[in-house]
Amino acid sequence: MDASTRFLHATEMGVGAWAWGDRIIWNYGGSYSDEDIRGAFDTSLEKSVRLIDTAEVYGRGRSERLIGEFLKTTDAPVLLATKFMPYPWRLRKKALLRALRHSLERLDVASVDLYQIHWHIPPRSIETWMDELAIAVQEELTRTVGVSNYSESQMLQAYSALARHEIPLASNQVEYHLLNRRAETSGLLARCHELDIRLIAYSPLAMGLLTGKYTVDSPPPGMRGRKAARILPKLPTLLRLMTQIGQDQGGKTNAQVALNWLICKGTMPIPGAKNAKQAEANAGALGWKLTEDQVAALDEASAEFSEK
Ligand SMILES: NC(=O)c1ccc[n+]([C@@H]2O[C@H](COP(=O)([O-])OP(=O)(O)OC[C@H]3O[C@@H](n4cnc5c(N)ncnc54)[C@H](OP(=O)(O)O)[C@@H]3O)[C@@H](O)[C@H]2O)c1
Repeated sequence: MDASTRFLHATEMGVGAWAWGDRIIWNYGGSYSDEDIRGAFDTSLEKSVRLIDTAEVYGRGRSERLIGEFLKTTDAPVLLATKFMPYPWRLRKKALLRALRHSLERLDVASVDLYQIHWHIPPRSIETWMDELAIAVQEELTRTVGVSNYSESQMLQAYSALARHEIPLASNQVEYHLLNRRAETSGLLARCHELDIRLIAYSPLAMGLLTGKYTVDSPPPGMRGRKAARILPKLPTLLRLMTQIGQDQGGKTNAQVALNWLICKGTMPIPGAKNAKQAEANAGALGWKLTEDQVAALDEASAEFSEK
């Protein structure tokens, strides 16, 4: 494993900062405030959850700006991961370094620990953006580089393009949780393990569904509710098993079981937390491990969700 990416493999879990400033999906400014988010930030660090995943597009820069403000009031070591969105109108390759510099300004830091391409969006090629990521590493604007939402073949293309600069592809961040196991069934996860690419699992709680707090009669608010309508009727059996396993593990919650399952799969979950309470609860996924039998039982009970 390349020494520069070792910190990512040593990081068991991070915290996702999409909701830190996003009104459209998450209702920032409505059901939670900057003070709540500050609580999530502080509690995560207190509980040794040090990696924060953000993006230039989250809250149109608000997420990065809030993190920049919070960083000024802590001495705790933080690992920062952010992302570049290759909008189709970003035709000039220099757009990447310009966007990275803007992210650094909002975060008010000289460099980040991980800079990721958010999605592969044509027309610019994967190679073009990898060449620019290589410059970002050489200019010490980021410690490592990664991709997100890349298929196995796109990831291999990125890996080879970076290898020409002798730079490792540090990570691929994809949706992965008990209700979406495409990373496993497609072979992506196995390939990541083979090449020492850290698989970062996003939406690890299926945007809140795996906490068990949402039901058919009480779905998640707003746009999330529409997406959940198809899944909620089928969820109780899996949730009952998660609750049983949590009890057998000495009183773990459904969310903690969901996150621990991802850690057992050799990935890094980055659950979103809107307040101190959620951050503390999610940190309770660390420091213990599901048994092999429990992982197998969860695999079996969740299989039907991934066939769709
Ligand atoms: N690369 C990409 O394209 C991409 C896409 C999506 C996400 N991500 C990253 O992944 C991170 C996490 O994903 P996500 O935010 O979509 O979903 P998630 O982590 O699956 O769910 C987060 C939401 O679940 C609820 N929640 C969290 N912890 C809880 C707890 N302990 N108890 C009860 N409720 C809890 C909160 O919402 P409520 O309280 O409102 O239910 C929270 O906002 C994002 O913040 C982002 O960094 C990346």
